[in-house]
Amino acid sequence: MAESHLFSRRSFLKTACVGAGTLAASNLLPDLPFIGRVLAQSDRVPDLEVRLRAVESEVSILPGSPTRVWVYQGEVIQGDTASLQAIPDSYLGPIFRVHQSQHVRIHFVNDLPEESIIHWHGLILPEAMDAHPHYAIAPGETYVYDFQVINRAGTYWYHPHPHGATATQVYNGLAGLFIVTDGEETAAGLPSDDYDIPLVFQDRSFDADNQLVYITGGMMTQMMTEMMGFLGDNILINGKPEFELDVETRAYRLRLLNGSNFRILKLGWEDGTPLTVIGTDGGLLESPLERPYVTLSPGERVELWVDFSEHTVGSQLLLKSLPFTGVEMGGTMMGGMEMPETTTLPHGEKTTVLKVNVVQESTEALTLPERLSTIQRYALSDAVNADLPRTFEIAMLNEVWSLNGRSFEMDAVADDEIVQANTLEVWEFINVVNESETGAMDGGHGGHDMGNMNMGSGEIKTEDQMAHPMHIHGVQFQILERTVEDAFREGWETVSAGYVDEGWKDTVLLMPGERVKLLMRFGSDLGLYVFHCHNLEHEDLGLMRNYQVQ
Ligand code: C2O
Ligand code: CU
Ligand code: CU
Repeated sequence: MAESHLFSRRSFLKTACVGAGTLAASNLLPDLPFIGRVLAQSDRVPDLEVRLRAVESEVSILPGSPTRVWVYQGEVIQGDTASLQAIPDSYLGPIFRVHQSQHVRIHFVNDLPEESIIHWHGLILPEAMDAHPHYAIAPGETYVYDFQVINRAGTYWYHPHPHGATATQVYNGLAGLFIVTDGEETAAGLPSDDYDIPLVFQDRSFDADNQLVYITGGMMTQMMTEMMGFLGDNILINGKPEFELDVETRAYRLRLLNGSNFRILKLGWEDGTPLTVIGTDGGLLESPLERPYVTLSPGERVELWVDFSEHTVGSQLLLKSLPFTGVEMGGTMMGGMEMPETTTLPHGEKTTVLKVNVVQESTEALTLPERLSTIQRYALSDAVNADLPRTFEIAMLNEVWSLNGRSFEMDAVADDEIVQANTLEVWEFINVVNESETGAMDGGHGGHDMGNMNMGSGEIKTEDQMAHPMHIHGVQFQILERTVEDAFREGWETVSAGYVDEGWKDTVLLMPGERVKLLMRFGSDLGLYVFHCHNLEHEDLGLMRNYQVQ
């Protein structure tokens, strides 16, 4: 068709490489005028070809006036139309349903009034497909994604990633699920189709005319809210307030995504029934695990097995976000100034998020599989830097969020941000800074050694510490170890029993005072990838850095 033809011609003129991912596109970037368009070079006919338009629209969320939102509208051009499932009356984008190894081509059409680009959160992709923010395209332009899905079965998602505007674009409605299936998952025999239910949690605030309200107030209030993160007054599920789920008396698979900008959820049943967890960010666990509740921070996913067969028709179950503390230490920042109160639903306040109505008898009796999948465990001793973890300190320096003293720069990579392709590494995120080091960092030596400083001396500064859900593009990692400073233990203990660290992850929550060691293997795709805090306000303010695979 005409469109692909246009792209084919361009590709001969300016080669931005995609597909098999053998060319380090980033090496070309400094020299080439970047055109913001990438051609599907593969001659292969894709299994699924989709046009995905980002466009201003409106949707009925609350009774009364419709709400102006930004949405992804999808259309299958080629392949099984069931691969793209629209969510009726929601601002959320269509759900992609693809099988592992399928070849997908997506024409992203930016019909927004500003630049944008789509990132496929959790998928392992070549640089140009992962969509580093430097690929953002202008209004009216099209970006063609062309990739093979190599991830295992799991609940992945997509959302905008233009630097500095991710938070507002996601808040306006741009996000969707990308669900991958595979043979191993099918063999596990989990509830499927109508009994496999995605639940996307996002908090939003509305004005009297039902329009979305984002950060408001005077300049100072706005600045401080942005530094902290935005909290909405209502927790929506799949774009709907007061979401209720009607179920039969049988087992379900629930796929939960926290798609909020900042709000952390601590999800548990009102009556204290434990949760049965079967999956995390990167798909199924090896075997089911029980948790009293699950802690789900922005960007993270968790999958649950829930059996309603013991409940009687007519009963109702409440899923709550349970109380927790310590996410925003002291509620003060920037030299001890009080944070403005900007939401009717403060972080960590107990609230009902989901009502489940048992409406129908079912005779379908499924048993929870003992074995769900096989996870090949990484060993620390196999890491190329086993003795010297690559450390990244998260801190606010001179009122700017930073990683090892630096905040995001579009194409810059520091020495300690370069990794070798096809190697296993251990990384450590450190969410604790003591007085003496803060002083040292304020001096501006954002150097290579910063992360390896001994944290043993100096007094710990508790009041500037916040929770940060850290996300790394281009990999699925394993969580090796967590530690928490005593000064922060109290808040930490209000969420830590809800961590699910046993499966594949791409996003990990660090509470204040916490350090987490991760094992990850970099693939053979070279180029620039980002890692960042998935508190989207933090990300936009620069709590993000590049890492380069070479
Ligand atoms: Cu879901 Cu870089 O993000
Ligand atoms: Cu991502
Ligand atoms: Cu953060």
